[in-house]
Amino acid sequence: GPVIDAFEGDAVRITFNNNLGQDTTVHWHGLPIPADQDGNPMDPVPTGMSRDYAFTLPVGSAGTYWYHPHPHGNTHEQVYRGLAGIFIVRSRTDPLGTLPERLVFITDLRLDSNGQIAADTAADLANGREGDQVMVNGAFQPVDAIAPGTTERWRIFDATNGRYTRLVLDGAPMVVAALDGCALASPITVPELLLAPGQRAELLVRAPATANQKLVLRTVGYDRGAMVPISPAVKLLEISTSSAGAIAPFAIPLTLPALPALPENLAVTQTIVLSDMGMVMGGGMGGGANGRFTINGKVFDPARDDITIKAGAAQEWLVRNDGMMDHPLHIHGTTFQLVASNRANIASDPRLNAFMDIVNLKSGEQIRIRLRIDTPGRRMFHCHILEHEAQGMMGVINVTL
Ligand code: C2O
Ligand code: CU
Repeated sequence: GPVIDAFEGDAVRITFNNNLGQDTTVHWHGLPIPADQDGNPMDPVPTGMSRDYAFTLPVGSAGTYWYHPHPHGNTHEQVYRGLAGIFIVRSRTDPLGTLPERLVFITDLRLDSNGQIAADTAADLANGREGDQVMVNGAFQPVDAIAPGTTERWRIFDATNGRYTRLVLDGAPMVVAALDGCALASPITVPELLLAPGQRAELLVRAPATANQKLVLRTVGYDRGAMVPISPAVKLLEISTSSAGAIAPFAIPLTLPALPALPENLAVTQTIVLSDMGMVMGGGMGGGANGRFTINGKVFDPARDDITIKAGAAQEWLVRNDGMMDHPLHIHGTTFQLVASNRANIASDPRLNAFMDIVNLKSGEQIRIRLRIDTPGRRMFHCHILEHEAQGMMGVINVTL
């Protein structure tokens, strides 16, 4: 889809014509906008109809977002067939605002022997579909050139249904400036960065100072506990330094305009348990999915409120993954802080205390998140492996005044 590029404070109006032949919606993933403009599955745009989505981008919302369909039960297919796009919100006082940018929108594709997009298999529905060609901006392993010494801001998106991208950068340090839509309080250098489906990151990448050097972004294998082979390492993007004169280095700021932290010492008021256990108990994968992918033991019902909270009230929730595979939990219309995990290595994790809109939980992982949803309305929360969402791993948060 087209890149939507706007500033904080802008009033945005987007006309959506549904010529798909199926009902659908457009969801503005990560944006803190009113619930009735957020493309919930409860607000379908019937085939042949159109609607306008209109909202104002709040001050403080600058960041890297995306949009994709969210119809009840069919989000996964519409997304793997290509319906997704980039939504950038800019701040007029961004300390990184002068940097050249590179968009790295990662999708994957599986074709059948006729060159058509292959239908889902039972394993796709159970595990989350991974295509076998990984693409960047719709191209296979694109190459590009850059002037030596240039610092760029890379906005990276995992826009796949079920593929984790464990990013490694060759040729320069990987400096993370933002996760999902939100700046980190300080940029942090990491050896690798895992993006679950739906997650984004902003990297600050300084090209080598001499000509004919390479920057290579790769994804390496990641074991997500699925009953499919671990996806092999693949090259995503290759950039070579040109023979142009070297650019003077950009001084990376020590602090960035992060959102103010939420209050500490909140009582835990919700427990969310993710489960895929039926995968074993139900005997076999695929088909007859009801009861297999659940949140708090239930499959999604658009008429049911699973959680009711007050608008503007800070919350602390416990989230546990009782399933066998990783599940990335996403909450609409807000961002949250990851404040604790029972995983041993969390202390050095760039996600700790950062604001995000998706958090991945490994099998057996238990975390606490802090969040606040400021505007009333019904909000979705779900696993962002889209096949799991489609089969019921989703719920509704009713935010009341
Ligand atoms: Cu990308 Cu319900 O979200
Ligand atoms: Cu899942």
